[in-house]
Formats: sequence, structure tokens, C-alpha cells
Amino acid sequence: MTCSLLILNGPNLNLLGTREPHVYGHETLADVAQLCHQTADALGLKIGFHQTNHEGELIDWIHGARGVHAGIVINPAAWTHTSVAVRDALAAVALPVVEVHLSNVHQRETFRHHSYVSPIAVGVLCGFGVTGYRMAIEYFAQLFQPEK
Ligand code: DQA
Repeated sequence: MTCSLLILNGPNLNLLGTREPHVYGHETLADVAQLCHQTADALGLKIGFHQTNHEGELIDWIHGARGVHAGIVINPAAWTHTSVAVRDALAAVALPVVEVHLSNVHQRETFRHHSYVSPIAVGVLCGFGVTGYRMAIEYFAQLFQPEK
């Protein structure tokens, strides 16, 4: 198994930077990808980075992670609160998962307080903006290379 992470982003995150910047910040998805690549490079990890507005595509990427990636960082966006299918896919591949949200979903509408993913995740980072992605990658670096 190579030390590679799959970083997945759900619907509407392609609009980061212009989408409700008071909630999600001014960084674009390209900025998030750059941050993830820089963080992973510095820690000696490889990453795959994807965003989709199509649930089946996300599920296909999750299925494809088995045997290729050692862990998954996922911001499932709205599917966090709706998708048993995304949760089942993550459970099926049995890789460690860190759930990330830019905003603190617990400070927001009650429909955002429930996550189908959290019960099968190692941990959840929310409210730290794009830094949450960096923290998730750092967690995996420590998990894979604890001597470093
Ligand atoms: C989000 C929070 C979700 O509730 C929302 O549907 C998103 C983004 C976040 O990163 O804060 O699209 O996952």
C-alpha cells in the first residue's frame, strides 16, 4: 500500500470563493487543492484530489480507493446530511476516513447537525476553514509515519 490519500469534495464546492464567502471563505477549490498538494508534498504523501456534483461519481471514486489509497479525506458537503449511499460506500471500502467541513455545521441550521458519515469516520474537522484539510492530511501523515 502506497502512502496516498484520496481527497474528495462534494456538491457545490466547485463554487468556493464566490459561494457564500461569509460562510465558506474566499479561497477557491483550486486554492484548497494547492494547499492539499503542498501539505502532502511536505509530508511525503501522495494525494488524489477530486470534486463532483454527481453522487454516483463520488461513490465510484470511493470504490476505486481500495488498494490504491491508504485513507480518505472527504468533505461530502450537502451529501453529509442526506446520503446513506456515500456512507455505505465509505464503510464498504473500510479505509480510515476523516470528514472535513469548512464551516462549523453545529453553529448552523439544525439540518446540518446530523451527519451520515461521522459515525464511520475516524474523526471530524469542522469550522477551521481550509485549514481543516491541512489538519486532516497531517493526521494521516502521523498515522502512516508515526516515527517522523
Ligand atoms: C459544508 C457544510 C455543508 O452543510 C454544506 O452543505 C456544504 C459545505 C462545509 O464545508 O462547511 O456544502 O460541507
